[in-house]
Amino acid sequence: MRKKIIAGNWKMNKTPAQAIELIKELKPLVADARVDVVFAVPAIDIIPAVKETAGSGIDIGAQNMFYMESGAYTGEVSPEMLTDAGVKYVIIGHSERREYFAETDETVNKKVIKAFEHNLIPIVCCGETLEQREQKIAVDWIRKQVKIAFFNVEKEDAKRAVIAYEPIWAIGTGKTATTAQAQEICSKIRECIAEIYDAQTASSIRIQYGGSVNAGNAAELFAQPDIDGGLVGGASLKADFAKIVNYNK
Ligand code: G3H
Repeated sequence: MRKKIIAGNWKMNKTPAQAIELIKELKPLVADARVDVVFAVPAIDIIPAVKETAGSGIDIGAQNMFYMESGAYTGEVSPEMLTDAGVKYVIIGHSERREYFAETDETVNKKVIKAFEHNLIPIVCCGETLEQREQKIAVDWIRKQVKIAFFNVEKEDAKRAVIAYEPIWAIGTGKTATTAQAQEICSKIRECIAEIYDAQTASSIRIQYGGSVNAGNAAELFAQPDIDGGLVGGASLKADFAKIVNYNK
């Protein structure tokens, strides 16, 4: 049975001081969660966030990393820097990274491989635009994203990965995919993993839904057989995030 995983993606929000404040507020509220809880914070908040969440059961995630070990890559953060700081998860290939920072399926693949080399668990993002959905090519598009992201990734690593299905048209728009739409794509992603690896790998990997998840829609989404939790943006920046995390209580 897969344990659900609910991650807050803070995006470019919260200074270190504000991060500590939010963690202090959320920590007692998510203390008895029956799911894995992750706060994916801005790079500069990682160290204070790891310190503030120590012993709480909350894991800290990064929102990105580079695929090289070290060197002349101004502005980048390496996988070793993340693990040394106490990071467990790293979001890879979020649609905002793809749109504003020219990330491609190929760079996503390099990052996924590098994350596993360092024992970081990647949260690999995929998702279609509204246009692609209307053209009925969403499934093909996502299958391509997943196949390239997992190219040359070992099966034992893939089993530990998290995939976040985030329809781009649902991100930050207040327009959530219907439960049926989200379940359909998540099941297709699982089928795709079964094709790449096998049924056992497909049943181990955790697939999140992301896109305007809130306290009101989380329970229905997470009750779907192929949805193993959520990647939450806006609603992870307030106390309401605890209601999402505790959706099953
Ligand atoms: O990573 C999170 C997603 O982009 C969803 O963001 O919950 O604000 O729609 P949102």
